[in-house]
Amino acid sequence: MPPILVTDDGPIRIIRMNRPEKKNALTLAMYDAMAQAIEDAQANEALRCLLIAGAPGAFCAGNDLNDFMAMTQEGELGAPILRFLYALARNEKPLVAAVSGVAVGVGTTMLLHCDYVVAGDDARLSTPFVPLGLVPEAASSLIAPRLMGHARAFQLLVMGKPLGAATAKESGIVNTIVPPAGLDDAALAAAREIAALPPHAAAASRRLMRGPVEGIIARIDEEAAAFKDRLKSPDAKAAFAAFLGRKR
Ligand code: COA
Repeated sequence: MPPILVTDDGPIRIIRMNRPEKKNALTLAMYDAMAQAIEDAQANEALRCLLIAGAPGAFCAGNDLNDFMAMTQEGELGAPILRFLYALARNEKPLVAAVSGVAVGVGTTMLLHCDYVVAGDDARLSTPFVPLGLVPEAASSLIAPRLMGHARAFQLLVMGKPLGAATAKESGIVNTIVPPAGLDDAALAAAREIAALPPHAAAASRRLMRGPVEGIIARIDEEAAAFKDRLKSPDAKAAFAAFLGRKR
């Protein structure tokens, strides 16, 4: 089974991360496949809503830390990572997410680009960028403070404190919480409701609400420059080595 499954269900494109044995940690190939699925959807008039999903208990464990470790050598972010982040920023189709279990790093920051997030009551969002010696990415340093205020964004993005489903809802990231067994159905129902709206009116409204895409792209680039710098740091290398070498 490929690690990203893309299925079109009528007007809805479902992009499912499918590497459950690694809690859906994202490899460069997975970023590329997700970016491709989002990019290809843009000109497809038949598609009216995108739905990002993961596995039960594992929405996404963030970037694969083996890949991050490899990137500490050259101090470069893999191109597929930026491709995916740009695809999220430039995406014009309403974006729904179905989140069960862990959503770490980009697993959480991609949700800030979504329009409607359905979470299982087992969802646990976290962005341990700073504890890993890194900085926030995916324009989260711009979007999160705007969404939840500086204090809560600081706790999430800088202190790395996890958010449970209820707190994520209070913080404005999550729309609705459901029992994990009903997650896919609830997310699909939300996507169908959105897909039934007049598409041009929905797209125009969404564009107005999100503000200029250039601002989001500029922040992604600014964060990426700081991120590359941090990747080379002894703090980051030590944090990756500690995870990869942990004994269980
Ligand atoms: N990169 C690479 N491998 C990862 C991974 C990641 N980001 N997240 C999980 N995995 C792997 C684990 O190494 C383990 O592999 P193994 O079975 O071959 O040993 C497998 O996925 C299952 O993970 P495990 O840690 O056993 O599951 P858990 O339920 O106890 O914990 C997490 C889940 C997500 C909390 C934990 O794996 C974790 O903290 N991962 C790192 C998250 C992270 O820091 N991401 C980067 C953010 S910028």
